[in-house]
Amino acid sequence: MSKKIFSGVQPTGNLHLGNYLGAIKNFVELNNNDANQCIFCVVDLHAITVKQDPKELKKNIRETVATFVASGIDPNKSIIFNQSGVAAHSEGAWILSCVARMGWLNRMTQFKEKAGKDKEKASIGLYSYPVLMAADILLYDATHVPVGDDQKQHLELCRDIAQKFNNDFDVEDFLKAPEPLIQKEFSRIMSLKDGSNKMSKSELSDLSRINLTDDKDQIINKIKKAKTDPLPMPKDIKELEGRLEAQNLLGIFASLSNSTLESSIEKFAGKNFSDFKQELSKLLVNKIMPISEEIKKLLKDQSYLDSILLDGVEKANKIASKKIKKIKEIVGF
Ligand code: AMP
Ligand code: TRP
Repeated sequence: MSKKIFSGVQPTGNLHLGNYLGAIKNFVELNNNDANQCIFCVVDLHAITVKQDPKELKKNIRETVATFVASGIDPNKSIIFNQSGVAAHSEGAWILSCVARMGWLNRMTQFKEKAGKDKEKASIGLYSYPVLMAADILLYDATHVPVGDDQKQHLELCRDIAQKFNNDFDVEDFLKAPEPLIQKEFSRIMSLKDGSNKMSKSELSDLSRINLTDDKDQIINKIKKAKTDPLPMPKDIKELEGRLEAQNLLGIFASLSNSTLESSIEKFAGKNFSDFKQELSKLLVNKIMPISEEIKKLLKDQSYLDSILLDGVEKANKIASKKIKKIKEIVGF
């Protein structure tokens, strides 16, 4: 069966190894399979749920497109577009926000994390963010949504919204509940400084993440400084238990080398961390440098990047405007 793939990435700068291994690497594989129809969205409407500098936002939108292309997504095969270019996303989000229940949104852990202690000061957009995400997906009848582990709850919500809409308006199977595509392993890459925290764009210390635009020296330095523990490298998976930093670094090694955690453990069993770190840096430099160099090259050609988005917006609009028209009819407008 051919899959309809939809996913989104926020243009909030600092795209990192977690974004790459958790999501973008998977996008590339899906793009390479000719049976799939892929749509990759730069979710700029999601980005403004927290304050953005307009100039930076514009720059980050182009940088996200450049990262997609540099990682291997072919804009002639997949649709790459920015969310704000297709009005149906905002319209759909409003209609679906009248279907979604407060109780459902109150359970979303990402809002709790992002809003922090002072929930009263968070934007309404940050709260209703998952409803916009549901609209993104449902407008395209996406069957599969590749994301990192942190988005699982939002996809469950999307399924609930689809089902309630179909029930409320008695339109069986009109909105299609999508399947999440979350990798079994390595779907959550952790901070290099603290194995219990997710690698994230917003973490203050740049040493906590490998950015996809880092150069060779930065990568080597960050791995050198990455937190480990005083024990030697584990001999088997049991010896890895409770050693969050070692788990994360070995996971990164396994994911980048397309191997399993077990075989990576075997490769470095009993060695010390510095030997392993050298190998890991080498692998990272080999995999990330070509992407980083290509991003820098593409960023010099803004009109090319803008033309990808323009073309993508046109194609996405053709699909989404039909669906939103039907949604409006169903609702009674
Ligand atoms: P965002 O940058 O929040 O828009 O995320 C873009 C994609 O990267 C989503 O599919 C996330 O689930 C994924 N992602 C973000 N951070 C990580 C991480 N630390 N590990 C794995 N996947 C991640
Ligand atoms: N919320 C996702 C994230 O932060 C990004 C996103 C927006 C998305 N719309 C989407 C992902 C639709 C998949 C499908 O990572």
